[in-house]
Amino acid sequence: MFRKTTNKLSDWMTSLSSSRACKILAPLAPIAFALLLSACSSGHPRDTLNPAGDGAEVSAWFFWLYMIIDSVIFVVVLGALAVAIMKFSKKKDDDGSLPPQSHGNMKLEIIWTVIPTLIVLVLGVITIGGVFKLAEKPAEEQKIIDIEVTGKQWWWEFDYTKERITTANEMHVEAGTQVALHLTSADVIHAFWVPRISGKRDATPGRSYPLYFKPFEAGEFVGQCAELCGASHARMGIKMIVHPAEGPDSYDAWVKNQQTVALAPKTDLQKAGKKVFETKGCAACHTIKGVKELATRSRSTGPDLTHVGARTTIAALALKNNEENLAKWVKNPQAVKEAALMTNLNLSDTDSKAVAAYLFSLK
Ligand code: CUA
Repeated sequence: MFRKTTNKLSDWMTSLSSSRACKILAPLAPIAFALLLSACSSGHPRDTLNPAGDGAEVSAWFFWLYMIIDSVIFVVVLGALAVAIMKFSKKKDDDGSLPPQSHGNMKLEIIWTVIPTLIVLVLGVITIGGVFKLAEKPAEEQKIIDIEVTGKQWWWEFDYTKERITTANEMHVEAGTQVALHLTSADVIHAFWVPRISGKRDATPGRSYPLYFKPFEAGEFVGQCAELCGASHARMGIKMIVHPAEGPDSYDAWVKNQQTVALAPKTDLQKAGKKVFETKGCAACHTIKGVKELATRSRSTGPDLTHVGARTTIAALALKNNEENLAKWVKNPQAVKEAALMTNLNLSDTDSKAVAAYLFSLK
């Protein structure tokens, strides 16, 4: 029974593949597939082909350059193949004799060696130029936002050294202003990647790699750790918030707010939460400026929480930031994020809710 079915299937496939229509249409299948893929990508928040920064723009430009040249080569080669198939297929009146036999054609050999060599050479030179352009150190005499980026299992620490600000997972920059990241890691290799803003770059322990870019427009852009770095690699998100240069929502206003010490708790619940933070173990790993500052930052240290309430997400974008989610996170981090290194302090429901209320008030 099985053999009968497979035989039938293979007969059908043979007849299909030898049909004239299939021979002509087969080369078009990859084009249809590429069109389908490009249709899927429109409007996606991580769309590299919709650049919002100069680094991503260079990458997108190279993508289209290669796409166009490769498409022309594809059409020419497969077109020639289709013509050959149609013109030289076995005819109905074929008498079985061999066609004239020939060997080699010097002119053709030279043409199809020289043309591909030239194409590869030109593309190679242009591509190397692009690589150097992306690695170019920005001119010193402009405003540069310098950020030390440390990848940790499984979140990102952002240190604005000049501004003396430390935050996590949500990077704030300014539209039209040069940004210089200095990437490192506290444990394994991670990779920083916000596809609409720039290309990706590894964050490696013991080294510092630069990544330069300039965002074009204000907005929020999501990214992702792009190096398999352990159990919660998929939950090591990045959000880049690009502020306008002026106005109440400007980058400078954000910096000013971040430089202040933490707000004092107002409600009883928030006051109780502050006490939980100070006495139940949270303060061993987290800094809240004005409340408890850690002298040194180590591998085990968690994010600076001075203004955690002002973040839009928590746990490296795993959850939306609100009191309910904060309580869920502190109560059992590993239930939200597999193998999360934050200690489960076995807080009671009451303590979790109180500390969540306090943390969310830290705008
Ligand atoms: Cu860090 Cu993947």
